[in-house]
Amino acid sequence: MTQANCADSSPDFNEVLQLRLSRRGLLKGSLASASASYLGVGTLAATGVVEAQAASTRLRLNFNAVAKSLDDLVRLPTGYSYKLLLATGDPIAPGIPAYSNAGADEANSFSRRAGDHNDGMYFFGMNNQARWDSSASERALLCVNHEAITSAFLHPQGQTIVDGKRTVDTEVVKEMLAHGVSVIEVRREAGSYSLQKDSLRNRRITTMTEIEISGPASGSPLMVTRYSPTGKRTRGTLGNCANGHTPWGTYLTCEENWAGYFRRPSSDDAKRNPQQLTALKRYGIAGKGRELWATASPDGNDQRFSRWDASVTGASADGSDDYRHAPNTFGWVVEIDPFNTDVSPKKRTALGRFAHEGAWPGPVRTGQPLVWYMGCDARGEYIYKFVSTKLWDPADATKGMAAGDKYMDDGRLYAARFNADGSGDWLELSFGQNGIDSTSPVYPFANQADVLVHARLAADAVGATKMDRPEWGAVNPRNGEVYMTLTYNPSRDFNQLDAANPRFYRDAKAGKQGQGNVNGHIIRWAEQGSQSGATHFRWDVFLFASRDNADQDNVNVSGLDASNDFSSPDGLWFSRTGLLWIETDDHAYRDSSNCMLLAAIPGTVGDGGQRQIISRDGEQQKNVTTHVGASATMASLRRFLVGPVDCEITGLAESPDGKALFVNIQHLGETTNDKGFDIVKPSTYLSHWPAGGDARPRSATIVITRDDGGTVGADLV
Ligand code: FEO
Ligand code: CA
Ligand code: CA
Repeated sequence: MTQANCADSSPDFNEVLQLRLSRRGLLKGSLASASASYLGVGTLAATGVVEAQAASTRLRLNFNAVAKSLDDLVRLPTGYSYKLLLATGDPIAPGIPAYSNAGADEANSFSRRAGDHNDGMYFFGMNNQARWDSSASERALLCVNHEAITSAFLHPQGQTIVDGKRTVDTEVVKEMLAHGVSVIEVRREAGSYSLQKDSLRNRRITTMTEIEISGPASGSPLMVTRYSPTGKRTRGTLGNCANGHTPWGTYLTCEENWAGYFRRPSSDDAKRNPQQLTALKRYGIAGKGRELWATASPDGNDQRFSRWDASVTGASADGSDDYRHAPNTFGWVVEIDPFNTDVSPKKRTALGRFAHEGAWPGPVRTGQPLVWYMGCDARGEYIYKFVSTKLWDPADATKGMAAGDKYMDDGRLYAARFNADGSGDWLELSFGQNGIDSTSPVYPFANQADVLVHARLAADAVGATKMDRPEWGAVNPRNGEVYMTLTYNPSRDFNQLDAANPRFYRDAKAGKQGQGNVNGHIIRWAEQGSQSGATHFRWDVFLFASRDNADQDNVNVSGLDASNDFSSPDGLWFSRTGLLWIETDDHAYRDSSNCMLLAAIPGTVGDGGQRQIISRDGEQQKNVTTHVGASATMASLRRFLVGPVDCEITGLAESPDGKALFVNIQHLGETTNDKGFDIVKPSTYLSHWPAGGDARPRSATIVITRDDGGTVGADLV
């Protein structure tokens, strides 16, 4: 049930903000409007205007909690509805036939169809001049990542593999085109949004798209390939997981699980020196290659496919006749200008190379550096921060990729260390600093390009804190505090618990995932000093995920109940009002519920206190003191949505007026293979969402609106 009466009389936070700003004469013309709206509370807080505003507005959740569910449905609170916007294979250009959803579609048509596995996304409001306007809600370019594929459902009977090789080229082409990014125009119609299939602005960026390598690693010998002997270009983006955006209206798509796609047999080790082997091992470049794409070119001559073979096959010393360096051209933050189809996307190498989940901007303040927060999503990996060298000039808000060249190709990269006393440090990853140089014992670095290409090794060298799998981050627009999910970690070593990753427990119902940090947690920090200049912070754990009936002293530390318990937080997103959305990609609580979306009204770092958590492994016991946020309550955290069977809930975007929330339902039925799945027997598919019946499941973007037209999730009171 919704509380519609509250919304009717409460103006949207952004509207209140703009009204106050208008009164003060700060908004002049559309650019000022766009910038101020984008800059939001952070920038304006510097003026003191918004701090007063934030203090006078409180949020109240405007829905009743949705119960946990195992149904093959999207469950929403009473008073809310959703519409399907963009599902796997949907045409995004005129003349492309409707998706067959039986594997029958022509392979190349995927360059004009939505890809698979919808993930991170962003709503770029568009004004009447078809320019970016962050206050525009009626019309927009929506950028949607397509992280990966459920290959079986893309072909009539799954992948054709003979003697370990892909033998049907068109299947591989279709799969390569089903990864990447969709840019689609959407318009508000009848209270929700519709895809404008005929828009000339619709486009796909895929594993085939030519992309520039920009920043300090461009032209490095580490980037030389047969495709680009100068090391300044590469082909495609891959593993497009979460995302980010810039104050000049461009999209950041982040390359996460790219390493596994490369083939590199163990016989290649003999052709590598010890330093190269250290780097290849640290990034996991080994094995047959996920999806076996390289095998579609048995003689190595068809570069569409041979570029996925990262072994030394050529005679050159520099790698200009093979793809030994191809993995170095993936694992980056990639900038795309959705409003300019003429410019090539760029890989921004100054932000480092790892399993990039996303890149979340900090508050934007005139005359100060820009900041992006990032996480490397693998067990025991790090949290990073990038700080631009150049100081923000609002005149650059219309400069597109040229602004990216200015702010994102030059800056400092840091990795985070979380100390037991609740303090934290940003450790700079610059050549010649903090022991990162040619004398580094594990991996001697040659220069800054080497540091960025091997950012994980640089973070190892400075002693950053190994986290329980960093997924999404989000920055609270009210106070600049940064939140990041640590999704779960069954590999958390009992002997290496620390204050920021303090839990080790067992859960028999969670199967093979039921050991270690079984359910994950959400950490947050407050920079000490200016956001961009700070090298120290204070942190606590905002929420520990858990079953509601788990041990409250050591597992259900945040006091979750049946209305808000969850597992494996992944997606994270702040509405402009300061409402925090939490999405799950769960592996350990599936006996009780499918994945979900929750809404939270967060407090501030330090609003809880110290807690001692006791972990046990057989006869051994470890006591770790940590710093926890205030316990959850019915007023501060509620389940808003539960998805269909075997899905992940991921990706969030909202219309600037807060009346529509875009959410992705990803990889339904993905684990079907583990459970006796037979592609020719629809009854064995774990999910049939969204079509139902015997249909193959499809990943999709949905648009959620409130039936009374109010703001989604919370009202300002
Ligand atoms: Fe693609 Fe880390 O989720
Ligand atoms: Ca994720
Ligand atoms: Ca995940």
